[in-house]
Amino acid sequence: MDIESEKRQAAAARLREHEEPHEGQVPIPKLVIVTVALIFGWGAWYITQAPINQSPALGDQRTEADLRPKPGGAAGGGGGVVDGAAVFQSRCVACHQATGTGLPGVFPPLADSEWVKGDEKQVASIVLRGITGTLTVKGGKYAGAMPPFADQLGDGEIAAVLTYVRGQWGNGAQAITPETVAAARAATASMTAPYAGDSDLKAPGG
Ligand code: HEC
Repeated sequence: MDIESEKRQAAAARLREHEEPHEGQVPIPKLVIVTVALIFGWGAWYITQAPINQSPALGDQRTEADLRPKPGGAAGGGGGVVDGAAVFQSRCVACHQATGTGLPGVFPPLADSEWVKGDEKQVASIVLRGITGTLTVKGGKYAGAMPPFADQLGDGEIAAVLTYVRGQWGNGAQAITPETVAAARAATASMTAPYAGDSDLKAPGG
């Protein structure tokens, strides 16, 4: 077989066979483009519609409004915003209890207490300076010791915790401002011992 016929045979063989496959460009299917566009569109729509200021269904359920500082919880010695409920949990709950009912005969109630609902400056002074001796609360006599908090809590913290206590358990009394606490602190600055119970304090409403 000469070279020419070999070449012819090879050419004929090539013609008989399919072309070598090669990589081409296949357009993205329309369905995929449409699906992706719909997902993006839904995402953008969801961001505009998402209920950011409504009660959340997930998490701890607090809304943005819940987290915003309350007017009564003004800044204290630390300079930050004070959470009255947190101060109550850490400073008062051991004696006066989470329900504000105290312990009969031992710790007086803050719920529905005439002292809590009474004069703002007096209740602030009680928390600042403490009480020992017999104290009458809601007709019951208590002879315990309420510790003074003047050195432990700032005006803002005392205002916040009293605002919390006065707003809880149906007390429904007005908020107390840090300015009121500061005034009570200045007015009682000369006190070296806690109030001696009823005899030292002006009975609310009396
Ligand atoms: C160690 C226990 C104890 C702690 C802590 C305590 N108290 Fe008292 N508190 C008492 C006792 C006891 C009396 C009654 C004093 C008496 O019998 O002379 C009292 C009385 C009071 C009164 C007046 C009476 C009444 O029931 O309304 C107020 C108001 C009060 N406490 C608020 C607070 C607040 C606010 C805190 C937290 C910042 C606090 N107390 C922390 C024990 C405590």
